[in-house]
Amino acid sequence: MSQVLRGTPVAQKILAEVRQYAQAHPLRLDIILVGHHEASHIYVSHKLRQAEKVGIKAVLHHLPEKTTTAEVVSLIQHLNETPEVTGMIVQLPLPAHISEQAVLDAIAPSKDADALHPQNLGLLAQGRARWAPATPWGIVELLLHYDISPAGKHVAIVGRGRLVGTPLTLLLSRPAAYGNATVTLCHTYTRNLYAYTREADIVVVAIGRPQWFGAEGIKPGAVIIDVGIHREGGHLIGDVQKEALEKAGAYTPVPGGVGPLTVACLLNNVCRLHEAAQSNTAGLLSR
Ligand SMILES: NC(=O)c1ccc[n+]([C@@H]2O[C@H](COP(=O)([O-])OP(=O)(O)OC[C@H]3O[C@@H](n4cnc5c(N)ncnc54)[C@H](OP(=O)(O)O)[C@@H]3O)[C@@H](O)[C@H]2O)c1
Repeated sequence: MSQVLRGTPVAQKILAEVRQYAQAHPLRLDIILVGHHEASHIYVSHKLRQAEKVGIKAVLHHLPEKTTTAEVVSLIQHLNETPEVTGMIVQLPLPAHISEQAVLDAIAPSKDADALHPQNLGLLAQGRARWAPATPWGIVELLLHYDISPAGKHVAIVGRGRLVGTPLTLLLSRPAAYGNATVTLCHTYTRNLYAYTREADIVVVAIGRPQWFGAEGIKPGAVIIDVGIHREGGHLIGDVQKEALEKAGAYTPVPGGVGPLTVACLLNNVCRLHEAAQSNTAGLLSR
C-alpha cells in the first residue's frame, strides 16, 4: 500500500504560525487578477478565504480581460508605494496580450509575495533568499514533514515552469538541509523522459496535463509529488495516472496534496515580507 502524503495537516501547522504572527502585526496582501481564467478564480477565492481566516487583510483587484500591460504596471506601482500593503501577487497566467515579464518586474522585490521577481529568484539561486515561491517551498515543507529528506536522493522534476519546476530545481539542489539532492529537470525536449524518471527516488510532475504521467515512468517504491490540478467532470485530478500512484511508495493526493500548501506558504511569505521590512536581521530561508 502506498503512503498518502496529505498536505492539509502540514498546511494547518504553517497556518497556525501565520495566524499567531498576524495577531501581533497588521498584514495586508493585495491580489491582482486579470480576466476570466476559470482556474485562477478558484485559486484566488481560496487565497482570499484562507487569508481572512488567519487574520491577514486580503484585497482583490479584479481587472477586465482587455486591461493593458501599462495599466497593470501602473496599479502595481501604486501598490508598491502604498505603505499599508505588506505584499502582493499577480495571479498567473495573464491574458496573452499582457507581458508577464514586465508585470513581474514591476513588483517591488520587498513586496513580492510570490518571490518571482528576478532579484528574489537571484537570491534564491545564491542561497540568500528570505522567502521562496509558494508551491516549491510547500513541496519542501511536505517532504520534510514526512521525513523524506531530499539529501543524496535523485529527484526528477518534470516541467520547467516559472512557478514550480525551475525554482524547485534551485531549492532542492542547494547545499542546505532542505536540498542536497541530485536534480534532473525534464521538459518537452527531454528525449526518453521515462528513462530519467524511472531512475529517480522522487518524481515531481508539474506539467499541466491531466493524468498524463504513467506507471511506466516510475520505479516501484519511489515518491511521487503530483502538482497538477485540473477540474474534470466535477472532480479535481492531477497530472499523474492512478496506476503510477499505486506503484509509488508514497504520493501526494489531488486534491489535498500540494494545493493547500501553496496557499499556506503564500500567506507565510506575507509574514516573512513584513519581518524583513521591519528588521535587517530577519532570517534566511530555512527548515
Ligand atoms: N497545486 C498547486 O497549488 C499548483 C500551484 C502552481 C501550479 N500548479 C500547476 O503546476 C503545473 C506547472 O505550472 P508551471 O506554471 O510551473 O508550469 P508551466 O509554465 O505551465 O509549464 C509546464 C511545463 O511542463 C512541461 N511539459 C508539458 N508537457 C510535457 C511533457 N509531455 N513532457 C515533459 N514536459 C512537459 C513544459 O515543457 P516546455 O518548457 O518544454 O514547454 C513546461 O516546462 C500547472 O499544471 C499548474 O496548474 C499547481
